[in-house]
Amino acid sequence: MFHRRRRRPRHPRLARITSDDVIYDLGCGDGRIVIAAAKHLGARGVGVDIDPLRIQECHDNLRRANVGDRVRFLQASLFDIDLTPASVVILYLLPSLNIRLRPSCSPSCGPARA
Ligand SMILES: C[S@@+](CC[C@H](N)C(=O)[O-])C[C@H]1O[C@@H](n2cnc3c(N)ncnc32)[C@H](O)[C@@H]1O
Repeated sequence: MFHRRRRRPRHPRLARITSDDVIYDLGCGDGRIVIAAAKHLGARGVGVDIDPLRIQECHDNLRRANVGDRVRFLQASLFDIDLTPASVVILYLLPSLNIRLRPSCSPSCGPARA
């Protein structure tokens, strides 16, 4: 018997994101989380990825989603990004990167919303 693999939700519902939020997705991959938050929840967002191919995918996906006025994608290292404007920071990274990010997040971040 085969089980269908559970897919990660496209909706960032867990973080209780609203249209007041500015989301930063660090290591955003193809940008689907930021795009979904803008499209379905009215949030604004910035996706950051170091890989230019992923950023190209982000721009392709953003064009199709028609929420370009609320979403930006940056090709950059997440360690060089100013997170001051963010109300929600999303991470889905390798554990080694999470550990490196911890010092820059802990003092200023509020509790997790999930
Ligand atoms: C596990 S994937 C997650 C992709 C996406 N967040 C998702 O949920 O599908 C990690 C992503 O982090 C990006 N990444 C790795 N190191 C990075 C860095 N220093 N700065 C920005 N992005 C980075 C990779 O290019 C990759 O797209």
